[in-house]
Amino acid sequence: MTQEREMEKISFDWLNKLPKVELHLHLEGTLEPELMFELAQRNQVTIPFQSVEQLRAAYQFNNLQDFLDIYYQGAEVLLVAQDFYDLTWAYLLKCKEQNIIHVEPFFDPQTHTARGIPFATVLEGIERALIDGKNKLGISSKLILCFLRHLSEEDAFNTLAQAIPYLDKIRAVGLDSSEKGHPPEKFSRVFAKARQLGLLTVAHAGEEGPAGNIWTAINDLQVARVDHGVSAISDQPLMAELIKTQMPLTICPLSNTKLKVFADMSDHTILQMLADGVCVTVNSDDPAYFGGYMTENFVALVDALNLNKTQAKQLVANSINGSFVSQKSKQKMLVQLSDYR
Ligand code: ADE
Ligand code: ZN
Repeated sequence: MTQEREMEKISFDWLNKLPKVELHLHLEGTLEPELMFELAQRNQVTIPFQSVEQLRAAYQFNNLQDFLDIYYQGAEVLLVAQDFYDLTWAYLLKCKEQNIIHVEPFFDPQTHTARGIPFATVLEGIERALIDGKNKLGISSKLILCFLRHLSEEDAFNTLAQAIPYLDKIRAVGLDSSEKGHPPEKFSRVFAKARQLGLLTVAHAGEEGPAGNIWTAINDLQVARVDHGVSAISDQPLMAELIKTQMPLTICPLSNTKLKVFADMSDHTILQMLADGVCVTVNSDDPAYFGGYMTENFVALVDALNLNKTQAKQLVANSINGSFVSQKSKQKMLVQLSDYR
């Protein structure tokens, strides 16, 4: 690429058409206000907001917990398998629009089983949409079951037991919800059991919590990726380890500024980590709540940090390399990426 072309600001259209892979996405976090209202009406669930506009206006968060409170409340409109299908399908249509070719979404079964909704209902609705995503839209996927870390180890074990009939539909387990006070090691035994069952592991660590949580996610939970991991930059030995092992970090820029992990996008350290050789990736986390899907996250990096095309393509290559697909599929996606100009 010439110096001149590298200097030119990347357009929305170039980023939108760039083939992309998403590795950190909560399906419940894709529930747009319009669908929330539609499902509330369909299922006769009352929500404490009068309009889509009022709901959107409430999406102002000072920290992760502020967001989680509203996010769990929003999920209460999801009751039957068709609701989980509609939620997942709407996300996949967005992926198609933004040329996201492969996704590895999270779902939080405990958010639903705690309300009396069977695990099977949740899984079947999501799974049917992911199959349609492959057949009708050409989007491949690997599903990740997340345990809610503010709940007990026993609750996580019960959830894992409910997943056993569906292990062929789930590639990995993850760990999300409130990081403060709930370190990764709380779930060491559950994750060991999940690995015995043949599942891969990932965990949110170093989002609001210290770099020590990233170490324990790696050493105790034996994760294949760290979700967020932005606090690693404060720990030089950890940075060296991440670079040496090429441990992927699934970073979510708009999430980080919405939840005040960084005060401003211009403070975000993702490109510094990329330059240091860390395997950082771009993801949308909970796009319906944080103001954008994949393309908007890349645009935010262009606007605040002057992201260039070489960096954008390296970030996608990192996602491909960090994904849970076969070597052959990775090669195919890497070729598609390098052909894109
Ligand atoms: N659940 C949904 N989004 C999350 C995030 N950013 N951190 C922790 N748990 C979450
Ligand atoms: Zn997340």
